[in-house]
Amino acid sequence: KAARAAERFGVPFTLSTMSICSIEDVAEHTDKPFWFQVYTLKDNDFMRRLMGRAKAANCSALVITVDLQMLGQRHKDLKNGLSAPPKLTIMSVADMMTKVRWGLEMLGTKRRFFGNIVGHARGVSDASSLSSWTAEAFDQSLDWKRIGQLIEMWDGKVILKGILDVADALKAAELGADAIVVSNHGGRQLDGASSSIRMLSHIVDTVGHKTEVLFDSGIRSGQDVLKAIALGAKGTMIGRAYTYGLGANGEQGVTDALRIIHKELDTTMGLCGRTMINDIDQDILIVPEGFHRK
Ligand SMILES: Cc1cc2nc3c(=O)[nH]c(=O)nc-3n(C[C@H](O)[C@H](O)[C@H](O)COP(=O)(O)O)c2cc1C
Repeated sequence: KAARAAERFGVPFTLSTMSICSIEDVAEHTDKPFWFQVYTLKDNDFMRRLMGRAKAANCSALVITVDLQMLGQRHKDLKNGLSAPPKLTIMSVADMMTKVRWGLEMLGTKRRFFGNIVGHARGVSDASSLSSWTAEAFDQSLDWKRIGQLIEMWDGKVILKGILDVADALKAAELGADAIVVSNHGGRQLDGASSSIRMLSHIVDTVGHKTEVLFDSGIRSGQDVLKAIALGAKGTMIGRAYTYGLGANGEQGVTDALRIIHKELDTTMGLCGRTMINDIDQDILIVPEGFHRK
């Protein structure tokens, strides 16, 4: 639903390795190529097959997430007992009862597991073997050599997501990344890491002429998009902003989220006296002294 909404709105969609819908499922229900995101997993054979499936589905770019070689400690996920598929507990059932439509759709859906993993990763045939696979699969020894190998394995357009300092941005450009995403994973990985917006400007100044710099983490409105563009990003990605729409109202909810952001962007540009996105620069911002970090 999200991929279809993005396609109809005219923006790229990135499907996650850990999505519930498989690459093939999304390809079957969309017309245009989408981007595919991979985590840096240890199992070369699995990575090769995963990339092969993405190529076969005509994915136009590979997004390699480089800031999740291990899972951060997510206190709220632990407290709320987040799991896929959701466990039926008194709390979760009570929660579903306050969101009747969503709850009924959840009960009725056939798509409950990680569609790119179950039935594809060695030894993962059902949900019970999935959690031990997840704990084992991530490559905690991730380094630039391994990222280089994955770039070679894909042999197509590559975006490195999760860059948060100038040195890493330089390294990514050196390895030939077509684009990078300045991101702190929506603040979900390292508690205490800098916000990505504070890191953006220096990264753009250093590598903006070598690779395309995209931005995410914290985009909730069209004004947020405009601020990132003004600080040099070529584009922004959204995580929670569209998933809130998706949870609330499916495909239409994602379209509404995109429309709201687009309208705010348009209005803010107008009020700043700009009509072309390419004319946006830092002049429209009042940036507090010491805001940018290296
Ligand atoms: C529920 C959830 C699941 C996510 N799953 C992935 C994922 O599978 N792969 C990935 O690279 N990033 C993942 N992210 C991070 C997003 O891609 C993105 O970097 C982040 O959400 C941006 O911040 P925002 O939510 O403030 O827009 C996830 C984020 C959320 C909230």
